[in-house]
Amino acid sequence: MSDYTGSDTFKLGHRSVKRLGYGAMQLAGPGVFGPPKDPKAALAVLREAVASGVNHIDTADFYGPHVTNQLIREALHPYPDDLVLVTKISARRGADGSWIPALSRDELTQAVHDNLRNLGLDVLEVVNLRSMFNTHHPAEGSIEAPLTVLADLQRQGLVRHIGLSNVTPTQIAEGRRLCEIVCVQNHYNVAHRADDALIDDLARDGIAYVPYFPLGGFTPLQSSILSDVAARLGVTPMQVALAWLLKRSSNILLIPGTSSVAHLRENLAAGSLALAPSVLAELEGIAV
Ligand SMILES: NC(=O)c1ccc[n+]([C@@H]2O[C@H](COP(=O)([O-])OP(=O)(O)OC[C@H]3O[C@@H](n4cnc5c(N)ncnc54)[C@H](OP(=O)(O)O)[C@@H]3O)[C@@H](O)[C@H]2O)c1
Repeated sequence: MSDYTGSDTFKLGHRSVKRLGYGAMQLAGPGVFGPPKDPKAALAVLREAVASGVNHIDTADFYGPHVTNQLIREALHPYPDDLVLVTKISARRGADGSWIPALSRDELTQAVHDNLRNLGLDVLEVVNLRSMFNTHHPAEGSIEAPLTVLADLQRQGLVRHIGLSNVTPTQIAEGRRLCEIVCVQNHYNVAHRADDALIDDLARDGIAYVPYFPLGGFTPLQSSILSDVAARLGVTPMQVALAWLLKRSSNILLIPGTSSVAHLRENLAAGSLALAPSVLAELEGIAV
């Protein structure tokens, strides 16, 4: 376990976090539902991440539900001073594992309290409001009502900073008129580039962009270009995909997910992988 190098920091709220963090969703059971097969292995991944220098972990109380947050608490509480835990609200889970929008004032308030209790915190550092007009991708619609509730919870001191997830530029603009938005978490990776212009706009305004599914998510990235580049550099395709994201824009904060210590180490090592301009140009071909 050694502190990884090669990845710098970016502002997240009033804290500065390393650009390579960790996403905890993969620690719950299959379908992000129920407990993991091997809870000890899940705890080991979390402890290894923090021991390796990770100070930004992404989670949600609807992973499991409750499972991921409870694992984080068991593995890491009392938390290191520099660790930033980011959570998200706006959904609950059905008995069958389905994802059900939960955006009423009562549901959002309950979600904040569930996160506080299961993480063992008095204040949540960053809470993302996830838009649910479409579960799978951003879709237009006003986020004013739920964001007003979250801003009220912030004023009550339960939430320090607010972010948005699964949102369009119009929704981000609407959100920024209502309260300060410190980060945006949308689907983005070397093959899925719908947010290219948005990332540059947010970078200009100093807002962090946190791509979810940086490795392709439930369908991990597969590309002959990625594999060829990785083979030439003597690294893995996933490492190239992460190094590309780090290079893409300085406001990108990574939260690759894994349930394996070996993959975690591999992902963190991507922080010191340099990509030459000719390689970056080649990788542009993946999204075409
Ligand atoms: N805001 C949202 O709507 C939203 C949606 C989805 C996710 N998220 C957040 O984003 C984080 C990242 O997304 P994600 O975990 O779904 O997807 P991801 O990071 O793109 O990919 C995770 C998948 O890649 C595999 N993997 C990880 N490292 C690997 C490696 N080095 N080599 C080969 N396979 C590897 C994992 O399997 P193993 O476990 O076997 O390593 C897992 O199947 C989540 O943990 C969650 O915190 C947010």
